[in-house]
Amino acid sequence: MPKVTYVEFNGPAHVVDVPVGNKVMEGAVSNGIPGIEADCGGSCACATCHVYVDEAWRVRTGKMSADERAMLECASDLKENSRLSCQMVVTEELDGLIVRMPKSQRG
Ligand code: FES
Repeated sequence: MPKVTYVEFNGPAHVVDVPVGNKVMEGAVSNGIPGIEADCGGSCACATCHVYVDEAWRVRTGKMSADERAMLECASDLKENSRLSCQMVVTEELDGLIVRMPKSQRG
């Protein structure tokens, strides 16, 4: 099962197994990792699942949709590598993925 590392803002890193087909957001929520609230349940309507994707993984996580891009514009602390974790599906190719929480989502 792919491992995903979630790094809290200025905090600890959590390495968890996330089943293929789950969203990156679901891996955080189901493991009680602080910093990803996912208020809308993954329907791309809240931006509380905002993360920064580590540079080495940006190509493998794919391009964002127009809906994701529009929702991200509502998030704070945007960066070039910002994504909504509910819009990234875990695959075997994402084994080792590292995402970091923005300052606005301190746990
Ligand atoms: S969980 Fe709401 S936008 Fe991702």
